Amino acid sequence: MTAIPGYTYDEMLAPSPVSIEDLELLKASLLWTDDDNAALLKAGQVLEDQIEDILDVWYGYVGANAHLVKSFSGADGNPSGEYLAAVRLRFGQWIRDTCTRDFDEEWLAYQNEVAHRHLTKLAKTDGIETTETHIPLRYLISFIFPITATMRPFLAAKGASESEVDAMHAAWFKAVTLTVSLWSQPYNTGAW
Ligand code: HEM
Repeated sequence: MTAIPGYTYDEMLAPSPVSIEDLELLKASLLWTDDDNAALLKAGQVLEDQIEDILDVWYGYVGANAHLVKSFSGADGNPSGEYLAAVRLRFGQWIRDTCTRDFDEEWLAYQNEVAHRHLTKLAKTDGIETTETHIPLRYLISFIFPITATMRPFLAAKGASESEVDAMHAAWFKAVTLTVSLWSQPYNTGAW
């Protein structure tokens, strides 16, 4: 359990419409191996005390792009500091979870919840009034690159060898791609 507001991983959530069998097929499509599980666990250790620095980089990137930061608008259409700060805590926890959680039914259920937080439940978890309706799927997909590319220096910062960094980076790339693939599931409504 964590005390992060709105983080409901350990609560009873609606089950994901994606089955474990579908998840396994997605992992196979990503050439997932047991080595990726081990590399992600190692990445979790390497990243733990760098999470705030990573979030600074990602928030800097979002903040520098008006069309992205617009998604964190409050009722007046301007970025809401309260909203950005609330989501930041859960974003940090997501880094930990992605590296350390088992990809099981509980994990799938939380992926479904977060998908809906980008689509049908935007700003609801934090009780924010927003002018926005949803995060466009095309931006979720595009975001895979910055979230992956910017991670490498952090993975390399604790003395791992070049090949260990490569393995952690590839596993992270696969995990983020897997996540966004799952989050695309409820977008079959045409909300591109
Ligand atoms: C690789 C793509 C992305 C990842 C991995 C990601 C990750 C996350 C995570 C971990 C959360 C918090 C989930 C939770 O509540 O526990 C979140 C929420 C959010 N993200 Fe993303 N995100 C991505 C793309 C984007 C993009 C492109 C935007 C905007 C342009 C965006 C805007 C938001 C907003 C506004 C929330 C808050 C949703 C709410 O009201 O609960 N995300 N994201």
